[in-house]
Amino acid sequence: MLVACQNLSFGYDGHIVVNGLNFSVQAGDFLLIAGENGSGKSTLVKGLLRLINPMEGKINFSSDFEQSRTGYLSQQTAPKQDFPAGVFEIVLSGNLGKKRLLPFYRQAEKRMAEGKLRLLGIENLQHKCFRELSGGQQRRVLLARSLCAAEKLLVLDEPFAGLDPLISAELYRLLEKINRETGMTVIMVSHEISAAACATKVLHLQK
Ligand SMILES: Nc1ncnc2c1ncn2[C@@H]1O[C@H](COP(=O)(O)OP(=O)(O)OP(=O)(O)O)[C@@H](O)[C@H]1O
Ligand SMILES: [Mg+2]
Repeated sequence: MLVACQNLSFGYDGHIVVNGLNFSVQAGDFLLIAGENGSGKSTLVKGLLRLINPMEGKINFSSDFEQSRTGYLSQQTAPKQDFPAGVFEIVLSGNLGKKRLLPFYRQAEKRMAEGKLRLLGIENLQHKCFRELSGGQQRRVLLARSLCAAEKLLVLDEPFAGLDPLISAELYRLLEKINRETGMTVIMVSHEISAAACATKVLHLQK
């Protein structure tokens, strides 16, 4: 068991958004969190990452669940990602949460970043400036970064929103492959039909 939630509620300013959830995530699961706009999917994800506290109930995390081993791709709007950094630097920065003795990147981390760029078919973007990429290219770069960060758990909030449907279907299949072949646990928020096909569990939030 990675995470177990009991009677879990989240909200803002005393107003409940997610109410009384009971569910658990086992190592190797692919959990899809679905539900209409405003049903609290992003709120729940932030709670699972301990970025916000529950209003009620509790979450039990196993000792395997360490924040530094989690890759997180938040649901973001483009302007926030408008910083002047290179693609490779951003992908490599996925390694920052890991414990290391020296304050610079090791060769192994650089090779891993190159490997993730290849896996996502964007090695040609390696030397580009992030803010000059298209929205879809930026999402893939950010996914490559979260893949560098994730050792056991990948948490993705609408990772491919706004991408071409054929491309996003291909990326969902890639996530499914990573989950099945490496045992990486995936918790993903998505509205898309092709996302449901890769999940092993679905949590549907009601408004
Ligand atoms: N920081 C915040 N402060 C106050 N209210 C918030 C905050 N973040 C979210 N909310 C409210 O909580 C509710 C759930 O928001 P949340 O972003 O979790 O929904 P969601 O299911 O992810 O929606 P979407 O599908 O649009 O991404 C909404 O009514 C929203 O207005
Ligand atoms: Mg959301």
